[in-house]
Amino acid sequence: DAVEAAKRLASVRAVDERVDAATRVVGIGSGSTVVHAVARLAERVRDERLAITACIPSSFQAQALILDAGLPLFPAIDVAFDGADEVDSALNCIKGGGGCHLQEKLVIYNAKRFYIVADHRKDSSVLGTAWRQGVPLEVVPMAYVPVMAKIRELGGTPVLRMAAKKAGPVVTDNGNFVVDADFGPIDRPADLNEALLRIPGVVETGLFCGMAHGAYFGMADGTVKVR
Ligand code: A5P
Repeated sequence: DAVEAAKRLASVRAVDERVDAATRVVGIGSGSTVVHAVARLAERVRDERLAITACIPSSFQAQALILDAGLPLFPAIDVAFDGADEVDSALNCIKGGGGCHLQEKLVIYNAKRFYIVADHRKDSSVLGTAWRQGVPLEVVPMAYVPVMAKIRELGGTPVLRMAAKKAGPVVTDNGNFVVDADFGPIDRPADLNEALLRIPGVVETGLFCGMAHGAYFGMADGTVKVR
């Protein structure tokens, strides 16, 4: 109808005038009109091979629009840097001492290369030997009791991480709890990671296996150990 046509007219004109060969990252809003802008953007990306690297959604609807149009949702991350709680000889690491490991894994998974930056205390050969606070697990709150029971069955010792100045558990940025599961020395971290991820209610683990391309350790003598 006429209103829909007007929405499309405005969207096409705006995208044609405001997106050019130098545009890389585009914010996508929500509603009925922006649908046409996304369609036009996708058309131009296809026809003109525009080098858009990422579209940032403002809502669930916007995310669906971006995905349906075949536009890139996440930026292609060339390189990611992050700390770690312990790094083994194969560059597997334990992360999540700060309870942010779900988001950290998302960033690192979407990066072409990931480098660990850490002080010498994190430099280890077998996970679970230098870092004795266990593998941090992000757990859906209603599942933490059965998750902890399952961890005991797997031979681990689980502790629900408690907040320092609050009579209650740590709550992650995603509204979940953190269970620290101590398994002692971890010989096969990738297998343990798989087993933990199979427990319903475990959203993500702090085991980052086969993800790092290198590690930089600041040493006590002022040198940097790179491996
Ligand atoms: C946050 O959840 C963690 O994964 C941190 O990156 C990790 O605990 C290392 O922190 P530090 O660099 O403060 O030791």
